[in-house]
Amino acid sequence: MNKTILITGGAGFIGSHVVQLFVEKYPDYQIINLDNLTYAGNLENLKEIENKPNYTFVKGNIVDADFINKLFTDYSFDGVIHLAAESHVDRSITDPVAFINTNVLGTINLLMAAKESWKDNFEGKRFYHISTDEVYGALGDTGFFLENTAYDPQSPYSASKASSDHFVRAYGNTYKLPFVVSNCSNNYGPNQFPEKLLPLAINNIKNSKPIPIYGKGENIRDWLFVHDHAKAIDLIYHKAENGKTYNIGGHNEWTNIDLIRMLCKIMDNKLDREEGTSEKLITYVTDRAGHDMRYAIDASLIEKELGWTPSLTFEVGMEKTVDWYLENEAWMERIVSGAYEAYYDKMYNS
Ligand code: NAD
Ligand code: TYD
Repeated sequence: MNKTILITGGAGFIGSHVVQLFVEKYPDYQIINLDNLTYAGNLENLKEIENKPNYTFVKGNIVDADFINKLFTDYSFDGVIHLAAESHVDRSITDPVAFINTNVLGTINLLMAAKESWKDNFEGKRFYHISTDEVYGALGDTGFFLENTAYDPQSPYSASKASSDHFVRAYGNTYKLPFVVSNCSNNYGPNQFPEKLLPLAINNIKNSKPIPIYGKGENIRDWLFVHDHAKAIDLIYHKAENGKTYNIGGHNEWTNIDLIRMLCKIMDNKLDREEGTSEKLITYVTDRAGHDMRYAIDASLIEKELGWTPSLTFEVGMEKTVDWYLENEAWMERIVSGAYEAYYDKMYNS
């Protein structure tokens, strides 16, 4: 069946995998990738599909309501998969307004445009909002985030994502806009911007630079390979009932320090270094302000209702990830020149 789908944020980390999956798996769909190419957006992530006839890239800002309204008029979308966001917690601590603009205002602009464009007939239309487990706040030693866990965001990033989630559900309730939401745990894999822990550590280890670990490294994250998130998004987009929320996670909790020790072993092996060489780079640095202690997802609902499970073990996913970054040196080199250096100096050397 022919469909025209708007994917926002498709030049970023997760969005690029979602765009690639949809363009390749659904040749009858027209996929429009809207991305403003901020520091986190990179069209190199899409080079394998950029010339496909069912793919179009549009550069634009979701904060610009006039532009968004015109885009909806030009294309008559059947669906929206909304990933565009400011996504890094540390940046939200220094510049929360950028997060309010893109994550809250940008989402509302898309909701308004979808409502206006679809108002005569919501049949077959769908607004899919991609969110994060961070909206639920932080866990202690026990327990898991469920779909009905009360929101308790603790960082400017998670507060902005929580706000956007509420607006999506409010549009569903008030205007009957057909929507679905998913809240996923930490993703890892190819194409991730090296401000996030794993690509930053891989790049530093490769260059024998210190690996900055916040606080004592005891904070826990639940890691999922990005292709498995993209597959869950495909399933939810096509199979979920309107109004549903699904949590997505890997049942894969690691303290940051154990995760980095595991990475160090893989990197010693791949780089033919003596075992223990990379671990010597671990450097404890000042903790992140308000650092959430633990995230862990109970993904049993999506497993039971939609039959989704992670396809990769963490060991295999990490090997694939490290291989990708080592094989794509030029991708990393282009990113870590210029503006990245200024960001890194400000974050870690001041
Ligand atoms: P990312 O930072 O790698 O990519 C974000 C993309 O959005 C970039 O391509 C950027 O250019 C684009 N963008 C930013 N502001 C924009 C604007 N105003 N207009 C248009 N485009 C804009 O982010 P990511 O890690 O790929 O995350 C994608 C989505 O998934 C986000 O909504 C995030 O909250 C959510 N999420 C991420 C994770 C994770 O582990 N990375 C986990 C769960 C949920
Ligand atoms: P990050 O990749 O920024 O994702 P999030 O904050 O969304 O979970 O960080 C993952 C974990 O790693 C988090 O507990 C913060 C920690 N961290 C470090 O210890 N050092 C770093 O340099 C970074 C970027 C993160």
